[in-house]
Amino acid sequence: MKKDDMSSPETRETELNAAELQLLQSSLADAEDRSQIPPPENKKQSKIVKLAKKNTAATVIISVFVTALVAVIVLLSVYLVTSITNGKNKRDYLFTFGEEEMRVKYEKIVIDDVLYVDMNKLAQYAELSVSGSDETMKYMVSDEQYVKFMNESEYAIINATKVVIPAPAIIKGGTCLVPYEVISKAVDTGIEFKSDRAKHTVSITRVTYAVEDILYNEDITFSAADFTAVGALQSTAGVSFEYNADVTQYLKYIAPEDNTPYLMLVNADNPLPTDFEPENLSTEPLPSKYTGQGEKYYLDECAAEALLAMVQAMYRDIPNNGAYVTSAYRSYEYQEDIFQKYIEEYVKKGYTPEEAEAEVLKTSARPGTSEHQSGLCVDFITVGMKNGLNNEEFERTAAFRWLSENAYKYGFILRYPKDKTHITSYSYESWHYRFVGRDAATAIYLSDICFEEYLEFI
Ligand code: DAL
Ligand code: ZN
Repeated sequence: MKKDDMSSPETRETELNAAELQLLQSSLADAEDRSQIPPPENKKQSKIVKLAKKNTAATVIISVFVTALVAVIVLLSVYLVTSITNGKNKRDYLFTFGEEEMRVKYEKIVIDDVLYVDMNKLAQYAELSVSGSDETMKYMVSDEQYVKFMNESEYAIINATKVVIPAPAIIKGGTCLVPYEVISKAVDTGIEFKSDRAKHTVSITRVTYAVEDILYNEDITFSAADFTAVGALQSTAGVSFEYNADVTQYLKYIAPEDNTPYLMLVNADNPLPTDFEPENLSTEPLPSKYTGQGEKYYLDECAAEALLAMVQAMYRDIPNNGAYVTSAYRSYEYQEDIFQKYIEEYVKKGYTPEEAEAEVLKTSARPGTSEHQSGLCVDFITVGMKNGLNNEEFERTAAFRWLSENAYKYGFILRYPKDKTHITSYSYESWHYRFVGRDAATAIYLSDICFEEYLEFI
């Protein structure tokens, strides 16, 4: 064997001729190219792919459609169930007052999910006496037994106790709606309340008792015991008054039998008509001995007599130190003049007219809203006060101390106390005394409240 025959394949490759080598290389390159392109589809395979592609689109469309359908069905069902349930829940309420039945529209008696009672209807059935206005309504069995509601207030008054109530009363157009929960708790005896919120029924019945087969109504009483109390009006029953002289001739003025005319509220929210003049303005001015020199001061006749009793007593108790009257009845026009004068003083100091008015309103009432127009109040000053009316100076006087301790006995109150400015809306005025009659003045003095608060209680 030839040495050449014994050669390796590599050795043999080199022995291929050039043409063979080219053919081989081009064949290898073709194979490589073919591996890069996808295999040819046959017709059947291509149909399946198309079908699969078409099916995906159909599936999406069907899914969207089914989802939408389900959503519509769900929404429709919810709507139907809700309206059926609501319709069912918003049935009329059936109120029974004794034997009398009364249907009331759901919307009229359930407000913000609170069940209300028509207090006027209840008062008619239970024979309570009713008084009030657009803002307050009072339902009374007697002077001591009563409930009072204030429009949209979170408070009620039950027998001279101010209590918190969970939902406000609504006083509007002659009706007074009171939360059922409140009135059913406030009535202690004499009326029985039953309600069924599921059946929409309320039954209100007078409680009776029998004496020898005759039926009597049990007395109606109210109680604040089930509520949170936030204040109380002290009772004046049994309070004795000590005077330093015989005031018998003044008593009918100091403690008038009917003090309603003297409870007139005049403040920023309760203005007087421009042309208001006190009905019984005294024709004689207050004695000059008790007033500033050179000026004539007038008051309502009754208030003037009570004031006379008071200043005489003050001058007796603190001779040479008594205060004198420096302002009393002021007409609308007079108040307008002084109010304007005060504004101008502030404007001169550099305040804008708006700022000046805001400042003045803290101490002086806008014309029409001054209590001085009622003829029921006075401002006191002493000889020693050189800077006009100011609290620091007046508080240092014996007259201030005397008035603080004794004015109520003569039917007068400190109208703008230090700690009540948020209620009265005026700065503290240690010199401004208002006549309200002895009963109210004593209750206000003992309870440490202001006039506005007192009016809430009664
Ligand atoms: N000083 C009181 C508020 C008035 O002007 O009536
Ligand atoms: Zn005054």
